[in-house]
Amino acid sequence: MSIIYLNGDFMPDTEAMISPLDRGFIFGDGVYEVIPVYNGHLFRISEHLRRLDNSLQGVRIPQPYSHEHWTGIMHQLVERNQGRNQSLYIQITRGVAKRDHAFPAKITPTVFAMSTPLEPLADKIRTSGISAVTLADNRWENCHLKTIALLPNILLRQQALDAGGSEAILIRNGEVTEGSASNLFMAKDSCIMTPPKGPRLLPGITRDLIVELAHENKLSISETNFTPDELAAADEIWLTSSTKEILPVTQLDGVAVNDGLPGPLWRQMTTLFQSYKESYSEPVA
Ligand code: PDD
Repeated sequence: MSIIYLNGDFMPDTEAMISPLDRGFIFGDGVYEVIPVYNGHLFRISEHLRRLDNSLQGVRIPQPYSHEHWTGIMHQLVERNQGRNQSLYIQITRGVAKRDHAFPAKITPTVFAMSTPLEPLADKIRTSGISAVTLADNRWENCHLKTIALLPNILLRQQALDAGGSEAILIRNGEVTEGSASNLFMAKDSCIMTPPKGPRLLPGITRDLIVELAHENKLSISETNFTPDELAAADEIWLTSSTKEILPVTQLDGVAVNDGLPGPLWRQMTTLFQSYKESYSEPVA
């Protein structure tokens, strides 16, 4: 049992009720955020809330709360659930109405938030990395919005799992975009590369932090597009997200990436990321 937030109240998840006519349930008509909590601190909360604003604006759902109000809810959720490290999930749907594709005239958004424990990266991944499979990116043209309509992402991820991989790396118009639930980096000859932000990928909060850390530490990094062939010839490949941090990909389409082990730049960036996390405390609102 965990304590969740629903439309103004905190309650056990077993007591929460949402109408089956909610447009999130009927149409997947909503947006979400996933925010990590490290040592009790909401990690990069302003960045996550700004992206939430952007997703809401993109699908024309009004932002129900101020950032300050959201931060208060998130703090309460952290306190009411156990563990110093948690993953907070926010979901806002357009609300409950008689089924009709068009937006209802008067509708109140449904606001839901929950917490799950955030597990550290397994030792096996740290030492051996993960395998990934390249697949055609058949998602829509607004991948920069974090919407709950994730069926294409789910099918792609499952296709990767069925092929023996852990994550799908997506290809659109001959260029690599991102993972089904992660952003992508590659390194070649000591230069780190990641596709530029735009409608083809989610502007990951972890991605942005890695770009920032690379610049601060004078590592060579470039936000540039690359092809599947360039990816296949990479020295290192990483996948990043708020729940998995930085994952080293050591097998791509069944072939070893370089020597098939997590690389030195991954180790360096992981160390920088961990020390940033340790020094991080939320900015005062
Ligand atoms: N997913 N790209 C996609 C398609 C994602 O779903 C995610 C994260 C990312 C990484 O973004 P961030 O670093 O802000 O977590 C990139 C979350 C974790 C999820 O859906 O559970």
